[in-house]
Amino acid sequence: MRILSGIQTTGNLHLGNYLGAIKQWVAMQDEMEAQGSECLFFLADLHALTGTVTPQELANSTIEMAATLLAAGIDDRSILFNQSRVPAHAELCWILQGTARMGWLNRMTQWKDKAGKNRDGASVGLFTYPVLQAADILVYRATHVPVGEDQKQHLELTRDVATKFNQDFGVELFPLPEPLISKAAPRIMSLRDGGAKMSKSDPSDLSRINLIDSDDTIVAKLRKAKTDAEPLPESFDALAERAEARNLVTIYAALSDRSPQSVVEEFAGQGFGAFKPALADLAVSVLGPIRERLVQLLNDRTAVGAELAKGAAKAQALAAPTLKAAQQAVGLQV
Ligand code: TYM
Repeated sequence: MRILSGIQTTGNLHLGNYLGAIKQWVAMQDEMEAQGSECLFFLADLHALTGTVTPQELANSTIEMAATLLAAGIDDRSILFNQSRVPAHAELCWILQGTARMGWLNRMTQWKDKAGKNRDGASVGLFTYPVLQAADILVYRATHVPVGEDQKQHLELTRDVATKFNQDFGVELFPLPEPLISKAAPRIMSLRDGGAKMSKSDPSDLSRINLIDSDDTIVAKLRKAKTDAEPLPESFDALAERAEARNLVTIYAALSDRSPQSVVEEFAGQGFGAFKPALADLAVSVLGPIRERLVQLLNDRTAVGAELAKGAAKAQALAAPTLKAAQQAVGLQV
């Protein structure tokens, strides 16, 4: 069993990333330690290049995100690194570009969403993004990939790439990785629009809680979060048509490690005038200590960079034999 996951380095991490991914990563790290094994977690800085990031933003966000992961509890028991420091990702990606098919990539919803109508103007990297993601996973022969729902399609593509490569070259090099989509890892939606996921790219900062936000900002954003005038029902299922209300209950449940049903039972009959302050208190108590560690780490960026370099050396050593086997399988003389 090998566990690996990645996150894009674009802007600050938010509550959606924390509850949807990082919290699971930390839990996974504990679980794997108990089994005498280690997880690989990386910052997808090469993937970030497919968007419109400035050099300064990329450099800063790589260190800031590494600091955030360390602040959230990822430590020496895991291998933490940035993708570009391990050239095996890009090298395997090029080989797998020969395996992936245009039709597969054309079907990717992320590509369709991000490219929009102007496909001719989109970067080639945005189109081949999932092939690099496949390489990220396959270069370590990872078996399990903890991700949110939105990455499921990229995981399916990774399996397709692995299957075709193994078949085309008559090898059993790549295991088929499974997405690990934890029930405790909900899809967190925007605070302004219950139909859109909480995202770094939303132009409204009020739509998300960033992990760097101060206690006051967290409280203010939750106070301004969109809701409705109805009280909370007795059953979570009754919130199906009330996207914003459902999202706030989901956030409360995830922050407190409880089921959404037990949360609505506690607040049944109460309106958001009562629920929002309770949610704000809870959010501040969970996120406040993470932010404090983060602020400390951001004061020592060199040390954070050194952690990434240490992780990259370990990752490169793990990736090297698989890359070599893939190169040999396709006939490259390296
Ligand atoms: P990224 O950077 O968009 O998101 C990182 C992780 O956070 C989850 N996530 C969310 N979960 C719940 N609610 C939300 N609002 C929310 N927003 C984000 C994502 O599902 C993801 O698990 N392509 C990947 C990065 C990547 C990767 C990989 C992941 C590159 N290579 C290899 C796994 C394995 C991405 O853009 O994630």
